[in-house]
Amino acid sequence: MKYGDITSRLANLGGDKWAVHLKALKMKADGADIVIASIGEPEIPPSPILMQSCHDALTAGRAGYSNGQGETDLLQTLAKRYAARSGRAITSANVMTVPGTQTALYLTMMGLLNPGDEVLVGDPFYVSYEGVVAAPGGRFVPVPMSADNGFRLQARDIAPHITPRSRAILLTTPHNPTGAVLRPEDLRAIGDLAKEHDLWIISDEVYAELVFDGAFTSPLDFADLAERTIVVSSISKSHAAPGFRSGWIVAPEEFVSRVLPLSETILFGNQPFIADATEAALLAPNTTAQDMRSSYRRRAQMLVDGLADLPSVRISLPDAGMFVMFDIRDTGRSGEAFAEDLLAREAVSVLPGEVFGTQGAGFVRISLTITDTDMQRVVRGLANVLKGVPA
Ligand SMILES: Cc1ncc(COP(=O)(O)O)c(C=O)c1O
Repeated sequence: MKYGDITSRLANLGGDKWAVHLKALKMKADGADIVIASIGEPEIPPSPILMQSCHDALTAGRAGYSNGQGETDLLQTLAKRYAARSGRAITSANVMTVPGTQTALYLTMMGLLNPGDEVLVGDPFYVSYEGVVAAPGGRFVPVPMSADNGFRLQARDIAPHITPRSRAILLTTPHNPTGAVLRPEDLRAIGDLAKEHDLWIISDEVYAELVFDGAFTSPLDFADLAERTIVVSSISKSHAAPGFRSGWIVAPEEFVSRVLPLSETILFGNQPFIADATEAALLAPNTTAQDMRSSYRRRAQMLVDGLADLPSVRISLPDAGMFVMFDIRDTGRSGEAFAEDLLAREAVSVLPGEVFGTQGAGFVRISLTITDTDMQRVVRGLANVLKGVPA
């Protein structure tokens, strides 16, 4: 039978990247005692307010059809939140709710790209980005980022990759896998470049509430970038609730009205009980994010301290997020070989940096969403493999 080209474009961009993780899950299901540090899934339960409000909303019968843009109250809550942060007028007309950042990215790319249009993305990059760009036939243009400046994407590194087909710059701040947070001066320079070449700025801010120290800045905070900025985010990380699939897009009004029919075509509306729970959680103090910030920072420190004396490793504390990515290039081994070895010998599953792009080669990403006890085991296992201790 014949299929649409989109199925071929996405054929190798789905689950293949998770090979080590999937292998570890299979070993675990078969009874092995494996530490899974290969995925950024919060280890704590979702925010209690979220769960209670979800239950209350369902009990109140909020399980009917909604509309494509989202429930009015949640749209307003989100608009107020972004208006307060940016200090500018942002209204419900700038917001649409969708099932997660992933859907937001997909809709955004489908709404912006024609076949052959290019999206500039810092490399290393989050695994699913290639797929969302490939879906509408877009061309993914990796822009090498450097460990030397903490993997913060720089305008000067983007500039040489701009062509007449460039359509958007996709930012991730805070970044997965590196934990880098873009500074106001980074965003200013990237914004100026985007203006000069009339590019969209898509800002994936799913880790915005997991900045360990210092402030978070969005391109949306710059008044002169608002007309070209699309923010995508969700409660997946901030409220430890990836399974709720509750996310949103904040963008210019025209973008929302143009992309709305696309969203309606795919989703046929939102889920009112999820919207109610999301609204309640966003309006309350977020103790879940506070807890995650302190435990992820502590575990990152355990890793850094535990590996500090090994000459073949270069590791530093991330600024934010759920991961530590460190450099094992001095061992002469690939991240893939290392991750396979670590799983086989020490029963610890991590992701090889190679899955995050060419700049991830020779790096390893470890998730901080495990218990402190498991982190001690990870540190021991890493040290054994790095020192070449026989299994
Ligand atoms: C950078 C980044 N963007 C998007 C997502 C997907 O988030 P969501 O659960 O909101 O779809 C993830 C999930 O790990 C991520 O790391």
